[in-house]
Amino acid sequence: MKIKNICCIGAGYVGGPTMAVIALKCPDIKVTVVDKDSSKIDRWNGKYQDLPVYEPGLADIIKKTRGRNLFFSTEIDKSIDDAEMIFMAVNTPTKTEGKGAGMAADLRYVENCAKNIAKIATADKIVVEKSTLPVRTAEKIKEILSNNNSDVNFEIISNPEFLAEGTAIKDLFKSDRVLIGGEKTQSGEKAVEALAKIYNRWIPKEKIITMNVWSAELSKLASNAMLAQRISSINSLSAICEKTGADIDELSNAIGLDHRIGPKFLKASVGFGGSCFKKDILNLVYLCKYYGLNEVAEYWHKVIKINEYQKDRFANIIIDELGGNVENKKIAILGWAFKKNTNDSRESAAIEITDKLIENGAHINIYDPKVKESRIKEDLNNIWELKSKSEKDLSNRFSRLEIFNNYKDAIKETHALAIITEWDEFKEINFKLVNQITNKNPKIFDGRLILKESNYTIGK
Ligand code: NAD
Ligand code: UGA
Repeated sequence: MKIKNICCIGAGYVGGPTMAVIALKCPDIKVTVVDKDSSKIDRWNGKYQDLPVYEPGLADIIKKTRGRNLFFSTEIDKSIDDAEMIFMAVNTPTKTEGKGAGMAADLRYVENCAKNIAKIATADKIVVEKSTLPVRTAEKIKEILSNNNSDVNFEIISNPEFLAEGTAIKDLFKSDRVLIGGEKTQSGEKAVEALAKIYNRWIPKEKIITMNVWSAELSKLASNAMLAQRISSINSLSAICEKTGADIDELSNAIGLDHRIGPKFLKASVGFGGSCFKKDILNLVYLCKYYGLNEVAEYWHKVIKINEYQKDRFANIIIDELGGNVENKKIAILGWAFKKNTNDSRESAAIEITDKLIENGAHINIYDPKVKESRIKEDLNNIWELKSKSEKDLSNRFSRLEIFNNYKDAIKETHALAIITEWDEFKEINFKLVNQITNKNPKIFDGRLILKESNYTIGK
């Protein structure tokens, strides 16, 4: 089966970059990315320097493909109708209410997509799960599709995405592996083959792994859990290093040199952030509990608990080092994105650290090279709206916050500065430079192990 027309529902951090790369590598396929958020679509169609997703290399691909065979649109129904293959790349956050609240994945966006596809489809469709989903979701989607439209055949295949933000384009160009899970029926195998052919334009055959749908779905959750587990392991060891005089960098290096362990994802930090690790592990914990595997659930839950502990530990160290009291002290938070080279701040450690310091009476100056001021405020508002006792209380918290457009201004007049994101521009920071800029002697807290010198560095 030759695919000529692809629709991707969801123009976010996955849908945008993934479809841009498919469009680049397959100029003969028309790729339309749709979203219900019209302002996001406007930005995808707007200036290259203001695309809704910042990723190194992405704007160049958009320049080459947009209007050629890549389109961004709010015409969801028409795009579904036109396409032979539909990717669902919508968000799957943790549920905030109902059964499984705080743990299970909220599948309402995926279910709404499925209902919409069923309503519109007049010809057979291949529906690709691109979103990260709990194992056996494909069953539910199939049920929704066939219950709402019995006239056409829907093939559901699972094709989880493994890109990491900040390196998305590189990851998409040279994936370690592409997983495609499908049913072992004739039409299921045809659907898998159609998608494999698309990836095979630039990914070698041996890296395209076909498997059953449930394995593909679970492999995604398991991969994220294993990656996050390595970070929590090294972060837990960073606390022992601080007590014993061992050095976490030296420890990481020594551990990683064992080729069975390998060096990646062993960098101690102020805690992992990002929209997926926490929600995917919570989802895994929920699934374990659902199947009565309580010990397994507890094991994975601890990965998240250590992460919370690490963020809190970092904030407490800042408070302790400033004499146990930060009331009316000014602290600069450098970096708001959850890692460098992205404008995404979802679950960034900076949010909870800032909240804790402000709760303790500090004034906070914030600078990030890519996260917009409105986003920073929204992140804090999401927590403060729930915590604040009154409008006055809420505005009081905001009055302790100032956002800057360069780090040099952000650190002036401060008692301390804390590096939360490993942006390259922060690497130049050292005591001499800070003293020159501030005329003072603020303490430097390195949460990302990037500085040569600081008063406090995780694990040292
Ligand atoms: P996102 O929030 O950036 O984008 C999702 C988009 O879907 C939003 O723009 C939203 O408006 C849109 N949407 C939701 N419901 C819709 C509907 N019914 N019709 C049209 N549009 C709709 O999310 P994301 O970060 O791109 O993540 C998407 C999925 O991919 C998640 O399941 C996530 O776990 C997974 N994932 C994310 C990453 C990552 O790096 N962000 C990597 C791998 C996998
Ligand atoms: C992660 C996975 O790496 C991707 O494979 C996956 O597709 C994606 O989640 C997803 O499902 O969303 P991402 O969260 O974008 O990607 O970025 P990572 O590079 O994994 O970093 C996550 C967090 O861990 C960041 O806060 C980073 O600073 C932190 N980290 C990473 C460490 O603290 N130490 C490390 O050694 C590595």
